[in-house]
Amino acid sequence: MAATLFQPAAHAGAINLRHDLDLSTDQLVQLLDLAEQMKQSRARFASALKGRYITLLFEKPSLRTRFTFELAIKQLGGDSVSQIGPIADREPLKDVARNLERWTDLIVARVFSQQTIEELALWARVPVVNGLSDLYHPCQALADMLTLKEQFGRLKGLKLAYVGDGNNVAHSLLLDAARLGINCSIATPAGYEPNAAIVAQARELAAETRAEIEVTNDPEQAVMAANAIYTDVWASMGQETEASERREVFAGFQVNESLMAAARQDAVFMHCLPAKRGQETTDAVMESSQSVVFDQAENRLHAQKALLLMLLQ
Ligand code: CP
Ligand code: NVA
Repeated sequence: MAATLFQPAAHAGAINLRHDLDLSTDQLVQLLDLAEQMKQSRARFASALKGRYITLLFEKPSLRTRFTFELAIKQLGGDSVSQIGPIADREPLKDVARNLERWTDLIVARVFSQQTIEELALWARVPVVNGLSDLYHPCQALADMLTLKEQFGRLKGLKLAYVGDGNNVAHSLLLDAARLGINCSIATPAGYEPNAAIVAQARELAAETRAEIEVTNDPEQAVMAANAIYTDVWASMGQETEASERREVFAGFQVNESLMAAARQDAVFMHCLPAKRGQETTDAVMESSQSVVFDQAENRLHAQKALLLMLLQ
């Protein structure tokens, strides 16, 4: 009789964050509230993850994601183990996943391909969190929604303009903004628009919240009446060979003082960092009083503490 092949686990109960929509809108709202509480009182949650262990995998470099996850885990009384470099060069990814789930309670992975996240989540019976892939950066968007909430005291009805490459960060912002009722306008050069399927998903979500989703090739139009202007690098990690070509294509998409002046006077400037001053933005904008980039970086910590607590409770 033929042996039964091992089938991937059905994941009874494990909530993942493979992409933004793995959290329901209710869970997202709840997470932002919890993050605010955790930011106010570190001591109250100091033992929340006592005895819990988390795997951190990084196929690509990181400052913020790595440090904020390590610190979040420490501040909650847990501990982490990490690997930097290729994840599955010595054995199949499905075997790596089934080792890690035996030792640790959750896996955070920064990967080149979204497929790697999907496969980890398929084979590991513990939650898998996307720490950035080619398609999404959900942990960044959580911190960004928290930052907007802090800055404006509300989310519904705000206008977020994203100017630059229609990349992983843009995708995650679109999905979270749409379901929180934030109007979102994305301006990219022709050919660098966000993924059409993700835009369609965002539009479906926006239909319920009445948020407006706009994709344009005109940065001035995107920033008109915006409360926040967001940008990111023109060439993401893994696209280094395209960097010089992209510098030419994106030249008219720099978020500089003149573009900031076309938005609301009280608009904030946002960037996930790391930033390339002189390309997607300028030193003057980064250092201006409108810039909230370091609030965003700080909020990675608080948002991820809330995320870990929600996924591991
Ligand atoms: N914004 C962000 O994810 O930064 P790192 O690449 O440094 O983790
Ligand atoms: N879009 C950028 C974000 C870095 C945090 C990248 O993927 O490199």
